[in-house]
Amino acid sequence: MDKIVIKGGNPLNGTIPVSGSKNACLPLMTAALLTDQPVTLTNVPNLADMNTMGELLNSLGATVERDADTHRMTLRAERIRTPLAHYDIVRKMRASILVLGPMLARDGAGTVSLPGGCAIGARPVDLHLKGLEAMGAVLDLRDGYVHASVPRSLNGGRLRGVSFRFPVVSVGATENLLMAATLAKGTTRLVNAAQEPEITDLADCLISMGAQIEGAGTSTIEIQGVDALSGTEHAVIADRIELGSFMIAPAITGGDVTITGGKMFLVETLAEALRAADILVEETNAGIRVTRNNGSIKPVSFTTEPFPGFATDLQAQMMALMTIADGVSVIDENIFENRFMHAPELTRMGADIAVDGGRATVTGVSGLRGAPVMATDLRASISLLLAGLAAEGETSVSRVYHLDRGYERVEDKLRACGANIERIKDDA
Ligand code: EPZ
Repeated sequence: MDKIVIKGGNPLNGTIPVSGSKNACLPLMTAALLTDQPVTLTNVPNLADMNTMGELLNSLGATVERDADTHRMTLRAERIRTPLAHYDIVRKMRASILVLGPMLARDGAGTVSLPGGCAIGARPVDLHLKGLEAMGAVLDLRDGYVHASVPRSLNGGRLRGVSFRFPVVSVGATENLLMAATLAKGTTRLVNAAQEPEITDLADCLISMGAQIEGAGTSTIEIQGVDALSGTEHAVIADRIELGSFMIAPAITGGDVTITGGKMFLVETLAEALRAADILVEETNAGIRVTRNNGSIKPVSFTTEPFPGFATDLQAQMMALMTIADGVSVIDENIFENRFMHAPELTRMGADIAVDGGRATVTGVSGLRGAPVMATDLRASISLLLAGLAAEGETSVSRVYHLDRGYERVEDKLRACGANIERIKDDA
C-alpha cells in the first residue's frame, strides 16, 4: 500500500487549483440513468470513486466514456439492462444507493445491496427507502439486498408525487428522492431537504435535462414530474471540501496561498471560523486567498451541522489546526457518531485531545512532532497530511487509498506551494 511521507515545517506559498466536486459528481453520474440520451459531465475529478461509480453504471448497462485529461465524461443509459447494484461495489462506495431512485423512476424496478455500516458511523439508508416507499415503491429486504418495484397498478408502474418530510436532513436521501421525483406522476414536495451546494448542482443538471424543479438550495424542494428527460452537458461544481482543506493548509503551516476555482459561498462558515482563529481569508478575482504570517492561532469552538453550517467533512482538518492553537477549543460532531478517529492519530503527533462521545476538547500545544500515522477515512487522511505539514520532522501517512477517493494529485498540488511531500509507491 502506498504511503505519503512529509517533512514538515515549510510555510506554503503559491496557488492551488481546486478540482470538481466528488460528492456532486456521484449523484450527477447516476442522474444519467434517468434518460436514454447521452449526459456529458465536464470538470469531472480524477478520483477512485468516479471509477467505482463508472463500474457500477456499466454493470447496470450504461456506457461510460471518460477522458481524464480533459475531465470530461459521457454517460449513456439507452436502457437499464441489469437493474442490480451488487454488494461487491456497494460495500466499496455507499453512494451506490443513489442508483435506486433513478432506476425506479425510469423502469419501476431496482435491486441494491444494503451498504452496511462504515468507519464513520452506522449510516443507515432508511430515509432513502421510506421516501421511495411513500412514492409507491414496494420494498422487499432480503439476503442483504433491497428489492424495489413499482406495482403496475400504480400509474402503470410509475412512482407518484408525494409530500415527504425528512425527519433529519440527509444529503443522499434528498438526492435520491429528487431524482426519483423528476419522472414521477404528479408533484413531489421534499420538506426539510438538504441545502448543500451539491443538491443545487444536481437540480441544475436535472433542469437542463427537462425536469421541473423549484426551491433547490432551500429546505423545501418542489418537483413536478415529467414524462421523459433528455440528455445534457453539465459542468460539475468546484469541490468545497477540497477547497476548505486547502484553505486550512496555509493556516496551519503559515504562508500565503490562493486556491483557484472555488467561490466563497461554498466555504463561508469555514472562512468565518478561520477568521475567528486570526487567519486572513479573502475572496479575490483569482479565488480564495488565505494568509497567516506566523502570528498565533486563536482557539475556535464549533459544531458540525448540515449546510450552511460547519461541514462535518471539514471537521478533522479544522481539528488539526486547533491542535496548535493558543488555548482550548471544543468541537461537537453532530452528523456522524464516530468521526473522531483522527484524534488518536493526531495525539501520536503530540496533540492534546480528549474525546467524550460526540465532543472533542482540544488543548493547543506549542508544536506537533512528526510520527508514523494511519489514515482511517478520507477526511481523517487529509487532516493527518495537514498536521504533518506543520509538524517538526517526518510524518508518514499509511493507507492513503482513503485519500485517493477524494483528493486529486494532492501531493503535487501541495508540493507546488513548497511542501516537502512525496508518495512512496508500494508496487507489491
Ligand atoms: C454525504 O453523505 C456525503 N457523501 C458525505 O461525504 C458527507 O459527510 C455527508 O453527506 C454529510 O454532509 C456524499 O455526498 C457521497 P447524509 P450522506 O445522508 O448523503 C443520517 C466525504 O467525506 N441518515 O446527509 O451519506 C446519517 O447516518 C463524505 O466525502 C439516516 O439516519 O450523508 C447521518 O447521521 C463522507 N438515514 C446523517 O443522516 C438515512 O437514510 C446525514 O447523512 C440517511 C442518513
